[in-house]
Amino acid sequence: MTGTVYLVGAGPGAPDLLTLRAARLLERAEVVFYDALVHPDTIALAVNAHRVDVGKRSGSRATAQRFINKRLIDAAHKYAVVVRLKGGDPMLFGRAREEIDALQQAGVTVEIVPGITAALGASADLGVSLTERGISRSVTFVTPRISNESADTRASNWALAALAADTAVIYMARGQAAAVAATLIALGKPAHTPVAVVENASRTDAVKRIGVLGNLPALAAQLGGGPAIIVMGEVLRNATKTSGAIDAIVATTLSSLQG
Ligand SMILES: C[S@@+](CC[C@H](N)C(=O)[O-])C[C@H]1O[C@@H](n2cnc3c(N)ncnc32)[C@H](O)[C@@H]1O
Repeated sequence: MTGTVYLVGAGPGAPDLLTLRAARLLERAEVVFYDALVHPDTIALAVNAHRVDVGKRSGSRATAQRFINKRLIDAAHKYAVVVRLKGGDPMLFGRAREEIDALQQAGVTVEIVPGITAALGASADLGVSLTERGISRSVTFVTPRISNESADTRASNWALAALAADTAVIYMARGQAAAVAATLIALGKPAHTPVAVVENASRTDAVKRIGVLGNLPALAAQLGGGPAIIVMGEVLRNATKTSGAIDAIVATTLSSLQG
């Protein structure tokens, strides 16, 4: 017997932002392999499962991924319902392709259960629609990250895609905020373009900072150690109307923007 491996999106952080399908699968799961960003309350739904943390990775990322692939294949030979639980949506910046390929090559059936990606959690927290009539007709999700070890902050596809869209959401870039801002400005994006950084989107400990591209490094430096995402575009110009407390530096920046 070979079981099915379900790649399941856990959503951006808040445990109640899980789909019903995901919750039902977790209840049925015999084993769950979960990532570092998944909320403990979500993992706790897997009442009957062996719960395996595969988020704390050692060695190179490629080695760790091969090890996870092998564990998923081994589990599918032992259990009928195997859940691979990933933060956000499994198909966005989640290394889903590697896992799907490895499982299919081993003859294991794979099913995908989508989740709410971090960009949408951040949009909700900010109270900012990523699209807006007359302002934004396109949204792009990009990352300068190539691997755990390196990021491409030069004028490559991610930067061109970010420039081409009305609204850009930039994943895994907080650590390179200065290089990201410099790259986009060098390519012609005005330094006064509105940006937001959201840490721990959708969670009760979410932190939001809104400003302009030119002060993105300063905004990013105000965050703690949680996962963070950058939103850039004119849709943020009126963000103060709907988002919560914004500190004095940011309020000053916004008034200079609007002035
Ligand atoms: C490896 S990617 C996984 C993305 C995930 N598959 C998704 O759809 O959201 C991890 C990055 O997602 C972003 N991220 C994930 N959860 C987040 C959250 N709650 N708040 C802000 N950013 C988050 C951060 O940029 C983080 O570095």
